[in-house]
Amino acid sequence: HTVQVHTGEAELGPYRHFMQKEIFEQPRAVGDTLQDIDAIMPELFGDGAHAVFQAIDGVLILACGTSYYAGLTARYWIESVAGIPVNVEIASEYRYRTSVPDPRTLVVTISQSGETADTLAALKHARGLGMDQTLTICNVATSAMVRECKLAFITRAGVEIGVASTKAFTTQLTALYLLTLALAQTRGRLDAAAEEQAVKSLRHLPVAVSAVLALEPQIIAWAERFASKENALFLGRGMHYPIALEGALKLKEISYIHAEAYPAGELKHGPLALVTDAMPVITIAPHDELLEKLKSNMQEVRARGGELYVFADADSQIASAEGMHVIRMPEHYGKLSPILHTVPLQLLAYHTACARGTDVDKPRNLAKSVTVE
Ligand code: AGP
Repeated sequence: HTVQVHTGEAELGPYRHFMQKEIFEQPRAVGDTLQDIDAIMPELFGDGAHAVFQAIDGVLILACGTSYYAGLTARYWIESVAGIPVNVEIASEYRYRTSVPDPRTLVVTISQSGETADTLAALKHARGLGMDQTLTICNVATSAMVRECKLAFITRAGVEIGVASTKAFTTQLTALYLLTLALAQTRGRLDAAAEEQAVKSLRHLPVAVSAVLALEPQIIAWAERFASKENALFLGRGMHYPIALEGALKLKEISYIHAEAYPAGELKHGPLALVTDAMPVITIAPHDELLEKLKSNMQEVRARGGELYVFADADSQIASAEGMHVIRMPEHYGKLSPILHTVPLQLLAYHTACARGTDVDKPRNLAKSVTVE
């Protein structure tokens, strides 16, 4: 059956577009995805999950677009917290590649729609290679993807109407962090104190996301400058590099500005040649163990006349200066920081697109769900 989607004005409420509404629904969507979870257990992912998690010693994540960036983020979490090796593959590449299968692999597909042709085909390819321990993180319980997988975690983002994925992404990340914890627990790497702390951070996440949404007025001011740009560079390090990729994709797909993301440490291996005062460099600056390295990358940009737009954690001691614009984020949020740092990039892309007058909810050339190859 099809989900009757009401796209009338009434559903927009005080918002200009569905994308803006869905960005502001994220505290509710993350809270709903967490439901009343007060303990970590493999059964969150379906009956039999405990036995599956015990039987595997590797993870293969298959996805496209924004969902692929959720997978890239999860790799940092799963490897560091659960101690399991993770490969993340673009579905349309994996399905045609001659790869080396390992039946002791948990194949995880990430898909908002659950109908993306490439991701479904990649899943089928993996199963054809004998990897049948499958799990999906999906936003549509009645989708083909859920039917095809042994295990499933359904995010509760609600119907996402904007073509550009927003609340689906942050609820995917929430679900992937729960998966990280469940895998760690199965391998004896999550003691009761760590579990309690992790659940506490997750339950506080809706409040933390709301605090970041309050930065919208400052981001609108930046967006008005971006509207005249033709190129942009996004920088991140570590588990925030996939968030830089997601920020670049958001800007590309709704404002049509060419944007790309790089790991900040990669700048000097070529991309620095692009840096002039005509190309804004958006930088994700969490107060994590890579901050000092990131600061030297930022100096490399400034030394070439590049203009920096920095989202800096409150405790990162990064101050505005000439050629360096800073918006202060809340205190560093630990492992869940990538979820918080996603939100200002969504808002930046959204308001830049509004300033450029593009069709925000239905950008040119794109479909909400790519159900054909
Ligand atoms: C992201 O904003 C796009 N809508 C697109 O990249 C999307 O993430 C991709 O097509 C995957 O869709 P899915 O999550 O429904 O599989």
